[in-house]
Amino acid sequence: MRCDVLVAGGEGLIGRALVRRARRSGARVVYTSRRSVADAAPDVMALDLAAPPATWRSLLAAATVMIAAAVSTLAGCAAAPSASGRVNVDGTLALARMAAERGAYVLFLSSNQVFDGRLPRRCRYDARCPISEYGRQKALGEKGTLALGAQGCVLRLTKVIDRATVPLQGWLGDLAAGRPVAPVRDLTVAPVAVGFVLDVIERLIATRASGLYHALGAEGVSYETLALALADAGHARRDLLCPRTLTAPPAGLAAIPRYTSLEMDEESRCFGFAPPTLAPTLELALTA
Ligand SMILES: NC(=O)c1ccc[n+]([C@@H]2O[C@H](COP(=O)([O-])OP(=O)(O)OC[C@H]3O[C@@H](n4cnc5c(N)ncnc54)[C@H](OP(=O)(O)O)[C@@H]3O)[C@@H](O)[C@H]2O)c1
Repeated sequence: MRCDVLVAGGEGLIGRALVRRARRSGARVVYTSRRSVADAAPDVMALDLAAPPATWRSLLAAATVMIAAAVSTLAGCAAAPSASGRVNVDGTLALARMAAERGAYVLFLSSNQVFDGRLPRRCRYDARCPISEYGRQKALGEKGTLALGAQGCVLRLTKVIDRATVPLQGWLGDLAAGRPVAPVRDLTVAPVAVGFVLDVIERLIATRASGLYHALGAEGVSYETLALALADAGHARRDLLCPRTLTAPPAGLAAIPRYTSLEMDEESRCFGFAPPTLAPTLELALTA
């Protein structure tokens, strides 16, 4: 059996959205899950990237393999560097190489955390300089994927948002109940809506683009500004926003990064994807 698209990590935030979008386009989609999956579910494949590749069930041949499976938090990687490295580097690259050997185009999701956050609008070819275990693992994942040549594509994302993501979900719940929220004023994000990420991925796959790409929002803003934008869009009362200042870097980061932005020049020039500003990003995220 062969499928059009295999999504590794098909039950995560981005993986779920990838599966939905690919199915809607009419593709034959199979996704992986860490749950033990009954043979009766032909569109789900059990896969634990922490297990030795020799124990994996044989990999389904697919035209495209999207790797959205990961230990995806800074804190999770910092708390268990070796266990998370087995997933984010060893398992991920074993999967990428296996898929490529079977002829697949491989898309690996990475992060702005491969940089240290000291400069805005990082260029895709700047030297990687992570200040977290998560960022170091992502940097290794990128290198291994790019070594696949024309079959490998890396898409770096910043904070991906929709209604069900941190911190929007918690904020929306608290604000609706009249409880105050405390957005951080000295940590920046360049939020990007899931829908925009899917549009970029669709185009990368359609053109089998290889190399390094970025998808993010145009504005690097503080969490305080993000919460204020939520108020301006009618989802929050301003008097319930009680901004706070961090007393230490968030768990997993060696310092508080000043910037999160990356350039999107090539995506704009080649594909017409200009990074969206904050208001349309929020609108897209909240209507998804
Ligand atoms: N979301 C963002 O803001 C963001 C930003 C930049 C980059 N990224 C990257 O984008 C990718 C997807 O992120 P996400 O937000 O969708 O992450 P997520 O919601 O945490 O989902 C991660 C997925 O990976 C699976 N997974 C974890 N450990 C695994 C293992 N040992 N073997 C197989 N699967 C495993 C999880 O399975 P379970 O469902 O069983 O836990 C889940 O389906 C990640 O590489 C992440 O680093 C995300």
